Amino acid sequence: MKLCNGTTISVIGAGRIGSAIISSLRNHCGDSIKIIATGRREETLERAAKLGALAIRDNKQAVGEADMIVLSVKPHHFPDVVKQTGRDVWRGKLVVSVMAGVKVKTLANAMPGADVYRAMTNINVLVGKASTAVANPENDSPSKLIVEELFRCMGEVYWVPEEYLDVWTSLAGSGPAFIAEIVDALVLGATASGMPRDLAYKATLDVLEGTAILLRNANKHPATIRDEVITPAGTTIRGIIVMESEGIKSALMKTIEATYKRFIEIGIEIDQYVKKELDIS
Ligand SMILES: NC(=O)c1ccc[n+]([C@@H]2O[C@H](COP(=O)([O-])OP(=O)(O)OC[C@H]3O[C@@H](n4cnc5c(N)ncnc54)[C@H](OP(=O)(O)O)[C@@H]3O)[C@@H](O)[C@H]2O)c1
Repeated sequence: MKLCNGTTISVIGAGRIGSAIISSLRNHCGDSIKIIATGRREETLERAAKLGALAIRDNKQAVGEADMIVLSVKPHHFPDVVKQTGRDVWRGKLVVSVMAGVKVKTLANAMPGADVYRAMTNINVLVGKASTAVANPENDSPSKLIVEELFRCMGEVYWVPEEYLDVWTSLAGSGPAFIAEIVDALVLGATASGMPRDLAYKATLDVLEGTAILLRNANKHPATIRDEVITPAGTTIRGIIVMESEGIKSALMKTIEATYKRFIEIGIEIDQYVKKELDIS
């Protein structure tokens, strides 16, 4: 099987992430694939249809007709999906879950005989700049290349051991929200000093984007770039002193740590809930 070669791909749960995946697939493969999308509300189905998917409510039909299935419902809705489809229809299917928290083993037990991958992407999939981690690097079936291509058309892809997915979720999954908060703070700071808000916003995004490219291309420790900007007794070092005295670095480190801890708690709750609902180990 190839990703863009007469393949039928079903997206179960065409919400925010599911819709973004449908758009990326359509852009990447054009009309060479059939996309089926499911949802419960009329609004969800209409949005998916506008993106070029056959939008239906019947999850069993969507799974039955697909070569590959993307699971993008909220994790606590996953048991409903399996109850609606039954277990047998998943056998032999390539299944990629982007649901937070539901472990590979649980997915495999819930959908016996499926070739299962678990991934965590982020909202930047909307602009083709997602960072996606995919677990199951030890799965050496040919389907790995198809999964890689699926996420490559949405941005960067990293194969990681499953144990890294919780911290990945806190850094890359929640990361766009943290970066948005930082952008907001910088814009307000410039506005307080007299710059029109619109201009401050554009400038902040330019700085963010440019610095990201500089850091990536320079391949140096961030402190090296910082030191290239600082001059003795200059202006930037005054700002760095404030950042240090206000504990910005430690606040950001704690942000990731706290988010990670909460993801572990939620992951355990979700995984147990799914196992209990589906009566699996
Ligand atoms: N948002 C993010 O930034 C992000 C990032 C990474 C991963 N994720 C993961 O991606 C998954 C989806 O997140 P989201 O933000 O896209 O959520 P969302 O917008 O709420 O989308 C979930 C979709 O699932 C549909 N759904 C629920 N039960 C269903 C069922 N039984 N059959 C078919 N469709 C059903 C809902 O349809 P109706 O609205 O019609 O009920 C909804 O459109 C979650 O598991 C989340 O952990 C999200």
